[in-house]
Amino acid sequence: MSHKFNLPARYGTGEKSVWVEYIQLAAEYKPAVNLGQGFPDYHAPEHVTKALAEITTGENPLFNQYTRGFGHPRLVQNLAKLYSPLVGKEIDPNNEILVTSGAYEALFSTIMGHVDEGDEVIVIEPFFDCYEFMIKTAGGIPRCIALKPKATSGTMTSADWVLDEAELVSLFNSKTKMLILNTPHNPLGKVFTAQELETIGNLCKKYNVLCVSDEVYEWMVYAPNKHIRIASMPGMWERTITIGSAGKTFSVTGWKTGWAYGPANLMRNLQVVHQNCVYTCCTPIQEAVARSFEFELSRYNSPECYFFSLARELLSKRDYLVKVLRENGFNPTVPDGGYFIVADWTKLEKKIDLQSESDKYKDYRFTKKFAKEAGVLAIPPSAFYSEDHKHLGENFARFCFIKKDENLALAENLMKEWNAKKK
Ligand SMILES: Cc1ncc(COP(=O)(O)O)c(C=O)c1O
Repeated sequence: MSHKFNLPARYGTGEKSVWVEYIQLAAEYKPAVNLGQGFPDYHAPEHVTKALAEITTGENPLFNQYTRGFGHPRLVQNLAKLYSPLVGKEIDPNNEILVTSGAYEALFSTIMGHVDEGDEVIVIEPFFDCYEFMIKTAGGIPRCIALKPKATSGTMTSADWVLDEAELVSLFNSKTKMLILNTPHNPLGKVFTAQELETIGNLCKKYNVLCVSDEVYEWMVYAPNKHIRIASMPGMWERTITIGSAGKTFSVTGWKTGWAYGPANLMRNLQVVHQNCVYTCCTPIQEAVARSFEFELSRYNSPECYFFSLARELLSKRDYLVKVLRENGFNPTVPDGGYFIVADWTKLEKKIDLQSESDKYKDYRFTKKFAKEAGVLAIPPSAFYSEDHKHLGENFARFCFIKKDENLALAENLMKEWNAKKK
């Protein structure tokens, strides 16, 4: 009886996720500023939230009922309209796009739909933590390679975090089924360059490997950096599944609506998984996201378009938090994209008693103790590394800056006060 209800072996030991643990920590210690999880603490554009309100109470009762399983027609049409010119190929809305319960489910359907027992999957560290779990649950073997910082004497930017090409080449073999790319990158903010993508793409072509490109931060790129969709590069469309998120695009992470797009033969595997676990996503939200895309597409060439105004708005928040972190003893990596800053806290180690926390990894101990003492919550990046490489994240903490200016200012005051007390 006692063994009967054990967690099935395919889920491993079912370790707690960093999100479950840190959301609990936030509830318990109520840090004054939560720069942990990646979501804005302010309103989404008005046209986005208004659309949903109108749809649910409007004239058409069918907007509150089931819609097409693989994606609400108006949404897939708008996604095709948006992405076709961006990838340089006419995307078929009905066979080459799947709408999912957040980018998270797009990742799940892609990995479950393509990874078979014994397949190897190349994952770039640090990674969004669910990749590893999903690969293992599908019977696959993660082969991890870490981005490592180049030695620089001055300001460190996310472009200084690079892959060792020889190490990357050494991971490819006949068992390699998939490579997961994340650009712009969480947590480093790295925006992969054309040359880096070409190297990755050429290896995928040489070894006949599927490239999964998680691009949920596609619109959060700081000039002069440019987001390049690997699916748009020569010979890559036919072997790439690209993943996006309405939550990230329109600052409505609670809407949990995402999508995957790619060639019909590759998308078919995702459809099979999706139709047997989620089947169809929330209709009013899909209709609202579709209308939001229509509105943004109608002003795509104007500076007001949210795809571009959001990055401008985030740039000043990024620069502010970089300055605050520097002034308070951290060494931040300045991100070229995304809305996180990874900062080295080594210089603060002498000011904080890490022995009083019991976690195995130092970054867990630092972020917990810092939240309790300073009232500012950050995320421990070792959570984004495989077991053998967790030490690479131990001297860092991840801070999210898509927060109200007043909360970023509060973080500054709290850090200053904490530092003053420690003198
Ligand atoms: C890299 C990355 N991929 C996927 C997701 C999941 O996105 P969604 O909220 O649309 O499920 C996130 C969310 O933080 C992310 O950072």
